Order: sequence, then structure tokens, then C-alpha cells
Amino acid sequence: MPQYNHILLTGGAGFIGSNFVRFVRAHRPDTHVTNLDALTYAGNLENLSDLEGDDGYRFVKGDIRDADVLRELLSDDNPIPGVDAVVHMAAESHVDRSILDSQPFITTNVQGTQTLLDAVRHANDGRDTPIRFVHVSTDEVYGSLPLDEPNEKFAESTPLAPNSPYAASKASSDMLVRAAHHTFGMDTLITRCSNNFGPYQFPEKVIPLFVTNLIEGKKVPLYGDGLNVRDWLHVDDHCEAVLAVLEKGRSGEVYNIGGNNERSNLDLTHTILQLMGHGDEMIEYVTDRPGHDRRYAIDAGKLERDLGWQPTRSAWPDALAATIDWYKSNGDWWQRVRSGAYRDYYSKQYAGRSVH
Ligand SMILES: NC(=O)c1ccc[n+]([C@@H]2O[C@H](COP(=O)([O-])OP(=O)(O)OC[C@H]3O[C@@H](n4cnc5c(N)ncnc54)[C@H](O)[C@@H]3O)[C@@H](O)[C@H]2O)c1
Repeated sequence: MPQYNHILLTGGAGFIGSNFVRFVRAHRPDTHVTNLDALTYAGNLENLSDLEGDDGYRFVKGDIRDADVLRELLSDDNPIPGVDAVVHMAAESHVDRSILDSQPFITTNVQGTQTLLDAVRHANDGRDTPIRFVHVSTDEVYGSLPLDEPNEKFAESTPLAPNSPYAASKASSDMLVRAAHHTFGMDTLITRCSNNFGPYQFPEKVIPLFVTNLIEGKKVPLYGDGLNVRDWLHVDDHCEAVLAVLEKGRSGEVYNIGGNNERSNLDLTHTILQLMGHGDEMIEYVTDRPGHDRRYAIDAGKLERDLGWQPTRSAWPDALAATIDWYKSNGDWWQRVRSGAYRDYYSKQYAGRSVH
């Protein structure tokens, strides 16, 4: 099983990316990670403050739409070995924002992915072994399943039928990655994961939003009838799956990642309320999101059979309780996100440094 010398991770200052940096540094101490992130509103370097001083990790502020930055990073052998793998997580990721303004979703998720693919293809020229490219996508590209067919799940062969501008932009990026493999023989893989939960998730997403609202004594806004179903996976199970796909996946393949952990939003809300000692009076029903997908459910059998991966950290409700405890113990972190103070961290910590 190849272990990689140097992963170029895009979007590593976000929720999953920052957990992935920590996961790789803990489980593959010989693998260097360069984190390329534009620090949009969702990028928060405080997520990685514990890794400052780690020689195997470096941060580069830059945009995946900037071909010059990519060229420089992919040809850079100094002071660490050259990049031999790209894990692509950078994206605009919030469905509600894509409904308000889809433009950044098109420029980052679609054009940015193509710019990155082009840069990797050019960097492959003259190499014996091409750079491996793992594209981190989402189960949302498959669209929605009916509530009354509980045995139906998304397989890798399920036709793509994205329903939100976010999902459509991710589906487009999947198609571009597929085309890069078929047209240019690039060593690409695609993962499609269900909803993640865990530490460092931006508190606009449902679990940290509800937990932090309740800590502050505020109600939780539940969309529509709350019957929409999601399949919840702990972020570290996701990180382990991405690493397994990187190291053991078959080139050109798609791998679904899921927790076998379907919950309606109403069930999820009740469990959070119960774990935090509140009742239904803290629910505020709000108008449903337009085009809200009813149910996502992932068949991750291929990943389990072919690569030996199993979700081991997503057990319900214990994993949810541990996540709630994390937000309770890390009030400083999410309060600085809510107040916007986290945005000063980069300028304070990185000002005047010559190497990013
Ligand atoms: N969160 C989930 O439940 C989930 C589930 C399945 C798949 N995914 C996918 O996983 C990836 C990471 O999701 P997340 O929840 O951590 O997202 P996130 O919004 O928390 O983080 C995204 C990161 O990408 C960076 N970024 C955005 N535009 C950029 C650009 N143009 N150049 C460089 N960096 C840029 C942001 O600064 C941020 O740090 C995304 O591709 C998403 O589609 C997420």
C-alpha cells in the first residue's frame, strides 16, 4: 500500500479539511501536508492552531482558481519532497448560500476544480508516476430518495440528479474529474460522502447551529416538517475513508462513504434536545428550504468490501453526545466564529512570514 510523501490538500482550513490535516499527521507522521486555502468565510486557521510548529504541515493562503499558485506548489521540491497526491476539498459547501447566490459555487467548485486538474496534468509531464488526485464530493449529487422506500440507497451507479445549485456544482466537478481520467489518463478518484458531524464545523450547519443556539438559550430553527432524512457520519470516519481511497483505491473509480446512520431532522433535533436537557418548546418551525431533498441514504458497500473501511466513530447517540461536549468545551472557538474575530487570526499569526 503506497504511503504518500506529500499531500497537497485544498480547503484544509474548513471543517473536514482541518480534521483531515490532523488525521493524516496523527496516522501518517511521515506524510507532509500542504494546506492550500483561500480563507473564505468558511476557512478558519484557528481550527489548526495546535499544529503550528509541526514541521510536517504548512499553510499556504491561495485560491484554487489561481493557476500560478498551483503551478508553483506542484513544482516545489523545497524544503519538503514534491507533491505526489492532491486531496481536493476546497469548495463552497453550504446549500442555503447556493440558493441565495450560486456564482461562487460555479467559480470555485466548477472552474476551480478544472484549474486544479489542469495544473496537476501539467505537473505530471515528465514524471514517472503521476500525482494521484482524490476529489472529495458529496452524496447530494445523486438527488433525493423517496421517504416511503426505506430500502433504496444511493449506489455509485445511481444516475446523478442534483437538485440544488450546490449539488449541481459538485456534480459538474465530478464530471470534470471523470473526464480528466478518461481523456488524459490522470490518476483520479472520486468520493461521495453523506452528512458529516464533529468538531470545528462552521456553526451555520445544522448540528453546531442547534447546539450553540441551545448553549446560548436560543431556540433551534427546524425546516418544514422536519421529516427530511440524512445519513450522519463522524468526520474522522470520513477522513479515514478518504485516506483509504487515496492509498488503496482503484484509479478512475467512485467510492460512496456513509455511516448507515439515517435520522430524520426531527429525530436529530429531539436527540440533541434530550442530550442537552431541553424539551420541544425550544423548536421553532421555519419555512422549508426551496427544493429541500427528502432523503439521502448511502450504500457504502463497495468501500467496505474493496478497501476494508468501516465507520467506527459514528455510533449514535454517543458520537453525537461527544460532539455536543466538544462545542460545550470549546465556546471560545465558536464564539470567535460567530463574532467574526476568527478572521483576524491569519493576519496576526502569519503577518510578515516569508514562507506563507
Ligand atoms: N460537510 C459535509 O457534511 C460534507 C459532506 C460530503 C462532502 N463534503 C465536501 O467536503 C468538502 C469539505 O467540506 P466542508 O464541510 O469541510 O466545507 P467548509 O465550507 O467547511 O470548508 C471549505 C474550505 O474551502 C476553502 N475554499 C473555498 N473556496 C476556495 C477557493 N476558491 N480556493 C481555495 N480554498 C477555498 C474555504 O476557505 C474553506 O476552508 C467540500 O468539497 C464538500 O463539498 C462535505
